[in-house]
Amino acid sequence: MIIGVAREICPDDRRVAMVPMLVPSLTKAGHQVVIEQGAGLTSGYRDDEYLLAGARIEQNRSQLFEQAEILFMVRGPGADPVSCTEDMALLGPGHVLIAFLNPLMFPLSARHLAATGVTAFALDLIPRIFRAQSMDALSSMGSLAGYKGVLMAANALSKIFPLMMTAAGSLMPAKVFVIGAGVAGLQACATAKRMGALVSAYDVRPAVKEQVESVGAEFVEFDLDSQDAEDNRGYAKAQSEEFYRRQREAMTKVLAESDVVISTAGVPGKKAPVLITQEMVSHMKAGSVIVDIMAELGGNCALTQPGKSVDKDGVIILGPENIASSVAYHASQMLAKNIMALFDHLVDMDGRLVINPKEEITWNTLLCKDGRVTNERVLELLSEMPQS
Ligand code: NAI
Repeated sequence: MIIGVAREICPDDRRVAMVPMLVPSLTKAGHQVVIEQGAGLTSGYRDDEYLLAGARIEQNRSQLFEQAEILFMVRGPGADPVSCTEDMALLGPGHVLIAFLNPLMFPLSARHLAATGVTAFALDLIPRIFRAQSMDALSSMGSLAGYKGVLMAANALSKIFPLMMTAAGSLMPAKVFVIGAGVAGLQACATAKRMGALVSAYDVRPAVKEQVESVGAEFVEFDLDSQDAEDNRGYAKAQSEEFYRRQREAMTKVLAESDVVISTAGVPGKKAPVLITQEMVSHMKAGSVIVDIMAELGGNCALTQPGKSVDKDGVIILGPENIASSVAYHASQMLAKNIMALFDHLVDMDGRLVINPKEEITWNTLLCKDGRVTNERVLELLSEMPQS
């Protein structure tokens, strides 16, 4: 197949969907790889590295779309309905697309994408099952966000993380509290621990206690009766407003004692639950820092402003967006590996695309085909919308 790799046009996204080191395995399998000129520059991969690895460089974006049978992109058309839609006009029934498409947040964009006739696979929809681990791009990005979120906190905090015994006295370690111990939260725990902080974490899914402890953090238990917290895909279920109220009450004291709070709590496809109110922030120490990784989805903290830093009576609240893009070199490497694994899964021995509706990974990840949205979760969201 002819694989086209387009330069990212979504604002502030520095990542690329293929890296030079993976090109040879595609060409060895008989595929051609065409990279849009300069596509890898913002993540640290130059055109000559792609050329050396066996790819071709294409200067013209519409030419790239014209030649490609399958397109690898980071954020595809419609992933952000305001700024990433212009490529829709370049897509047609002859194309297969693999990209983040954000269909659970923007189901109407998915319908517009379907109307182009493209066969699109959404990285956001890869099921979190063991067999699909190597393709799980959301987890890859979550891991990086957890790591980088802690670095951002350390940078904004006026204390150091580790215990330090000096001739000028002892400095006590910083206390870091992580809300939500999924992929991002566990990586945040591990990173803060490596940096010498005292780390604790809470999650509605009691099953993660062991994982939290395995990275050296303490699992904080609140008596909140969250037994029915996990769905059959291993994700948290959304809880009632009464549950969140009790959770906020229980967390107030922990927050007041923390120097850093990293919040990563969420349920796929839903807005972030508000778990930190202005009142709770008012009980926190001046100089403490909240990094709200959920900023893009509305934020776990009521005061979070996406993409901004807010100072509320000395408490700094950071709402970083697209954190993975800030470590674009490794983010692109992980993403390219995930995309390759999905691509390998989708093609047969002769390199032809096979869509088997009975195969769990393929069918769950397929967003649209033959002009229609096929994904059941997205169809359900569309059916709830007044426009349909
Ligand atoms: P995940 O689904 O693995 O983890 C979310 C965790 O939150 C789960 O363990 C879940 O049980 C927990 N949770 C849900 N409700 C909770 C509550 N009320 N209290 C405590 N815990 C609760 O997701 P992952 O990969 O860790 O990512 C976390 C979030 O970070 C995602 O929603 C994603 O959108 C966001 N993210 C943001 C990035 C950014 O640049 N700002 C980059 C990557 C991910």
